Amino acid sequence: MPELSQLELETRFQKKIDDNLYIEPKDWMLEKYRQNLLRQISQHAHSEVVGMLPEANWITRAPNLRRKAALLAKIQDEAGHGLYLYSAAETLGSSREQILNAFLTGKAKYSSIFNYPTLTWADIGAIGWLVDGAAIINQVMLQRASYGPYARAMIRICREESFHQRQGFEILLTLCRGSKDQKAMAQDALNRWWWPSLMMFGPHDKDSPHTGDMTKWRVKRESNDELRQKFIDRTVPQADFLGITMPDKDLKWNETTGHYDFGEINWEEFNQVVSGNGPCNRERMNARVKAHTDGKWVRDAATAYANKKRNKAA
Ligand SMILES: [Fe+2]
Ligand SMILES: [Fe+2]
Repeated sequence: MPELSQLELETRFQKKIDDNLYIEPKDWMLEKYRQNLLRQISQHAHSEVVGMLPEANWITRAPNLRRKAALLAKIQDEAGHGLYLYSAAETLGSSREQILNAFLTGKAKYSSIFNYPTLTWADIGAIGWLVDGAAIINQVMLQRASYGPYARAMIRICREESFHQRQGFEILLTLCRGSKDQKAMAQDALNRWWWPSLMMFGPHDKDSPHTGDMTKWRVKRESNDELRQKFIDRTVPQADFLGITMPDKDLKWNETTGHYDFGEINWEEFNQVVSGNGPCNRERMNARVKAHTDGKWVRDAATAYANKKRNKAA
């Protein structure tokens, strides 16, 4: 077979995507596609792992045994999500070590939401309901992403995320049906988590630098603003059911558009948190670096064992 020109390779690659087929690790792919996906999947993996930290804060203080067991299971799920996603990222030609190094040296980002503190038990409910809820909106779209390993990881992850979302909602429902103080605690958590949850969808479409290519490559199928709107439309009736209110005086149903109108997001706060100045950025990074350092002996031992086995076999 004669060798294909770069142009022919690119045309075939794009046609595959347009035909709704998957790109697999050994297929030819555009270098820019590989780099962008590697950035997105590894950031996603880091987010799952850092996301364990704010919730871990409440394991020892969960109000009863059932809540503690459920919270532990949820946090373990997040660890699993991180691992699937690191594996998916590795298929793009980067080693686990390189991917982790980029994160631990601050070069790679993770979701800004995990730089906020969990001050009360109601925050655990708000994280499940809002943060996992926002993640689902994004991840349902990614189940049909063009890169096979990413799409397949998302299918399993989404099943678990929807369970997390319901679990969080149920924590808040219990509080909202409890004493006056418990309901106030739920409202306070909503007040603090609502805007950061909206920020999870990223900047407005007009300010989002990667959207164009990622849409063409069928990684993104809906824009940041569309996904955010979907989340708001779905979540406001749930808050009504709980009997608590979003901290946004501009939030109201728009009969004409069939969507909720809402107030402007504080992008200055978003930029501050993304650039490392959120309330817990330093604490989160220190915790991850410490875990990595403390785990060195385990990695060393596993490598030594694998080498020994390989030498024996040889
Ligand atoms: Fe997750
Ligand atoms: Fe989750």
